[in-house]
Amino acid sequence: MKKVITILLLLTLIVVFQFCSKKDDTATVLEPVLPSTPYNYVVSYPTHIQVALATNDNTPPDNQLTNDGATLGRVLFYDTKLSKNNTVSCGSCHKQEFAFDDNVQFSKGFEGGFTTRNSMSLLNERFYKNGKMFWDERALTLEKQALQPIQNHIEMGLTLAELETKVKAQSYYPALFQKAFGSTDIDSIKIAKAIAQFERSIVTYQSKYDQVKAGTASFTTLEEQGEQLFLNATGPGGSTNTCATCHAPPMFIKSNAPGFSITDAGDTTGINGVNKFKSGSLRNIGNRVNLFHTGTVSNLTAMLTAGAPGTGTTLIKAHSVAPGDVEKLLAFLNTLTDNTIITEEKFSNPFK
Ligand code: HEC
Ligand code: HEC
Repeated sequence: MKKVITILLLLTLIVVFQFCSKKDDTATVLEPVLPSTPYNYVVSYPTHIQVALATNDNTPPDNQLTNDGATLGRVLFYDTKLSKNNTVSCGSCHKQEFAFDDNVQFSKGFEGGFTTRNSMSLLNERFYKNGKMFWDERALTLEKQALQPIQNHIEMGLTLAELETKVKAQSYYPALFQKAFGSTDIDSIKIAKAIAQFERSIVTYQSKYDQVKAGTASFTTLEEQGEQLFLNATGPGGSTNTCATCHAPPMFIKSNAPGFSITDAGDTTGINGVNKFKSGSLRNIGNRVNLFHTGTVSNLTAMLTAGAPGTGTTLIKAHSVAPGDVEKLLAFLNTLTDNTIITEEKFSNPFK
């Protein structure tokens, strides 16, 4: 009798357990919420941005930006199905509210492992020369780059075959691929193209700096003094570099910056296998935390007052400025913050 009761109890438990886990399964199938007419990603930029784009645009002829392409890219960018255990998406480490950067020193991957370098802001990727992606500039194009975190064993952990199978298995993708590429066929090349289109749409052009350059606003005295320092003040020790040498306006990117010699004993695998790293865009820098490839500089004020990590070479000194200039540079650099990019729905997570 006792045996029968135990067996019955066990059976009940199994049924209850299965019922519950089934319920959980359906609860986790999230569908993206999208507008019936796609958002506008193909924007007409003000003249100073168009001029920069004319010489720096890395858009390849076979992957022009379209509203439907960027819409698909947005869904893929935020879809945790693109990781092995459905926990991590690109947006987990590139958060909209932090200018598509992370707000921690090192980012957490799908199994709780950490990246070995600080995450990077994805603003204005469209303006980097090909061959300049990642801190060590190892990725050739945005299209090629997009598939690397997906296959990275710490970040998302899938093979390309697994990626294609998982994307094909989601009910919402065929229609999105049809609109973006004119066919419901799904493969990793199209996945990469759509993600790259979404990234190329993330352009800052509505900051106070942009309004000043377009002639619709003017700098305060402090901001104006900061801009002059940024453009003209050279580093100590005979260095002819100004901030603008390595962070050139209007996107504050320098595609072929000399690179920064940083004594980072733990990371000698930077650009061309030495401890030099990419100088990324300073757009929205006031809105980002954990700066530099090490993520050890907590924010802009900390950098300007205490300098960046490394030895006391002349170049490193360029990152800490005279006490009297901190306020001016801070005022100027804060004009580079475009608040629309960190709040606009079209760049946000569609899985709500
Ligand atoms: C677990 C965190 C994590 C995830 C997930 C992740 N990234 Fe990143 N991303 C990073 C880190 C860290 C770096 C810098 C790595 C380096 O340079 O070695 C980076 C760098 C990049 C860069 C280079 C930016 C530049 O200016 O050079 C791009 C582009 C990028 N990621 C896009 C993506 C896309 C697209 C996805 C999703 C398919 C993604 N990332 C998923 C952490 C992550
Ligand atoms: C010789 C080139 C060079 C000069 C001059 C220079 N920078 Fe940089 N900057 C870099 C590089 C390279 C990095 C990234 C280094 C790293 O992470 O190891 C960087 C990083 C930064 C960062 C952190 C960005 C991030 O994405 O984490 C800020 C902020 C910054 N620079 C501001 C300035 C300011 C302000 C000046 C002038 C006072 C200046 N820089 C002068 C090359 C330069």
